Amino acid sequence: MNNIIDGKKISQDIKDEVKAEVAQLNARGVEPCLAVVLVGDDPASHVYVRNKIKACDYTGIRSVSINLPADTEESELLEKVEELNADPSVHGILVQLPLPPQIDEDKVINTIDPDKDVDGFSPISVGRLSIGLPGFKSCTPAGIIELIKRSGVSIDGKNCVIVGRSNIVGKPMAMLLLRENGTVTVCHSHTKDLRSITSQADILVAAIGKPKYFKADDIKEGAVVIDVGMDRDENGKLCGDVDFESVSNKAGYITPVPGGVGPMTIAMLMKNCVEAAERL
Ligand code: GUN
Repeated sequence: MNNIIDGKKISQDIKDEVKAEVAQLNARGVEPCLAVVLVGDDPASHVYVRNKIKACDYTGIRSVSINLPADTEESELLEKVEELNADPSVHGILVQLPLPPQIDEDKVINTIDPDKDVDGFSPISVGRLSIGLPGFKSCTPAGIIELIKRSGVSIDGKNCVIVGRSNIVGKPMAMLLLRENGTVTVCHSHTKDLRSITSQADILVAAIGKPKYFKADDIKEGAVVIDVGMDRDENGKLCGDVDFESVSNKAGYITPVPGGVGPMTIAMLMKNCVEAAERL
């Protein structure tokens, strides 16, 4: 089957492109730098942060790790963010989420300088994206656009259906597909007759968080199916929101889980860091 979108390969290509751009920036005396702030000892967050730093090492982006204890006061973290905002050698700031309960995440995200907000989470970044101004795009949806385009699929005029309306995937995804001239429908937990809507999608982005929820009958023949799910099946095995086995025979293109959308997030973070260094 050759309709599988290889996120591992595409993310590697992007990291190699970033590496070349970093070398060019270095030659001009610019050293792109990402500050990664981790508060507490959530094991999953530690793994994510380690992988982000590894990608920095690979691409040549300098990384600065700031590890703070779980009982850090909100004011201390805000002070740290302000310090990084003011540091001209730091181009990108990432505060790993979730944060401990005593810290208001929105307040922290709001404090990051929008020109260093490489996660694309701040209201300013989201606003810029919504009205088509230059700014940082949320990494997972931006990665999905790359997966679609690099598979040779045009989004222009396509019927795009997103299932999920989160701030980090569904909503920015809608904005990015709209920017590519897609006709966009956003479905969510209150949507009536969901499957009748997904079965009309030329491009389906599934971010519902339910293992193997979408079956072949829910998909249009030849559709591009992007699976954002990171679920566990009945045997505890990692799977997506789409029943890959049945849907892959009907879809035009499909992303696997793992190895589809997942690896794109960090690759796009690296791309945003270079963009930040080029802009500042
Ligand atoms: N926690 C889980 N995913 C992410 C991410 O992409 N960025 C940040 N900052 N925290 C996360």
